[in-house]
Amino acid sequence: MRVQDAINVEDFRELARRRLPRAVFDAMEGGAGDEVSLRRNRTAFDRIEFRPRPLADVATRDLSTTVFGERLSMPIMLAPTGAGRLARSSAEIAVARAAARADIVYMQSTVAAFPLEDVAARSTGTLWYQLYLPPNRAEVGNLVRRIAAAGYRALAITIDTPVLGNRERDTRNKLMSRPPHPKMLLQGASKPAWATDFIRGKFDFMRKFDFMRKFDFMRGQFGAGCPGGPSRLSLNQTRATIKSSSDCVTWEDVERIRSLWEGPLLLKGLMRGDECDRLVELGVDGVVVSNHGGRQLDGVPATIDILPEVVDAAARRLTVFLDGGVRRGNDVVKALALGAAGVFVGRPYLYGLAAGGEAGVLRMIELLRVEFDHAMALLGAATVADLDRSLVSGARIPST
Ligand code: FNR
Repeated sequence: MRVQDAINVEDFRELARRRLPRAVFDAMEGGAGDEVSLRRNRTAFDRIEFRPRPLADVATRDLSTTVFGERLSMPIMLAPTGAGRLARSSAEIAVARAAARADIVYMQSTVAAFPLEDVAARSTGTLWYQLYLPPNRAEVGNLVRRIAAAGYRALAITIDTPVLGNRERDTRNKLMSRPPHPKMLLQGASKPAWATDFIRGKFDFMRKFDFMRKFDFMRGQFGAGCPGGPSRLSLNQTRATIKSSSDCVTWEDVERIRSLWEGPLLLKGLMRGDECDRLVELGVDGVVVSNHGGRQLDGVPATIDILPEVVDAAARRLTVFLDGGVRRGNDVVKALALGAAGVFVGRPYLYGLAAGGEAGVLRMIELLRVEFDHAMALLGAATVADLDRSLVSGARIPST
């Protein structure tokens, strides 16, 4: 199958699986622990049913939406991921350019391969920035100024990663081993197209940017603080570092960043409604209901099951987004009907990136757009504003 033959996200997943070494594919695909939450994100979408509204005039449809005062071609957005360069060396540059061509939002990760200024300079689209706080809080002010100066429109602080999730696929695959484990090298050699691109990209990257600084940042922030951290640590050392290296975002951090950042401020990773009042008081503008794609605390509910609770608690004072398990246009419609202002996809565009770079990401987005439009028509909704809870059943709506 070629990129142009892919007709849905699952096809892109299969293309990515074939092109990537097993350990790299696992690093994108996997979740934490027993991957219960990862599976739940999908199965919960399947449980929700449509209740189409017949006889609605859906001859012309408009998928566009306005978010934080900005018109977007549709409410599907690209979530931050730090794994782009493992998929393909063009990484965030390719993703940002595809998002710009599709006229949708791309949120760049703090642990992206390319510096935030570089991505902003090489794309014309609407960019948001995802923030992991530097362990040295004195650096936050400078980072926030750089993000604003580069033209990022909104800032989202990820709040579900005080330590890295226990990703056992990565531990087994010895993904974090330095120098690379022979198993990794063998797997890389068995995928020559990927390996050539990876090595070329790595040399380019080391020439242009400070690769080791990013790596040190990740290790310093989460690497040693998780059971699957650097494989050379003994269990005792790991226990000690769990105590000392965790880096949590606190309410004080949110307050401080609110005072530093003038644009829309979001928190990414909220999984309960009862924090909303306090967030509103702090001046937060929005939240992403997210369980980090099932990669952090295993055992949390599916995001689509928590969405109505957060939407109700936010009571229009916060703009609520969702990510986790969105693989079809139908999933997008379900989330919007349950009150999301937009949805983010993570793995789907990483599959597109691995399969075909910028063109692969763009094709994946356009396939989702077609499915989204199709679902809207069949459901009887001509615009995003026509979507409401009466169009779905089987969702977990909190009793009032
Ligand atoms: C992520 N995610 C993530 N989130 C974040 O805030 N900062 C980050 O750097 C990353 N990195 C990252 C890498 C990879 C490989 C994945 C799969 C995910 C989480 C991401 O933003 C989003 O919450 C999930 O990917 C959404 O779930 P789906 O769409 O992948 O099911």
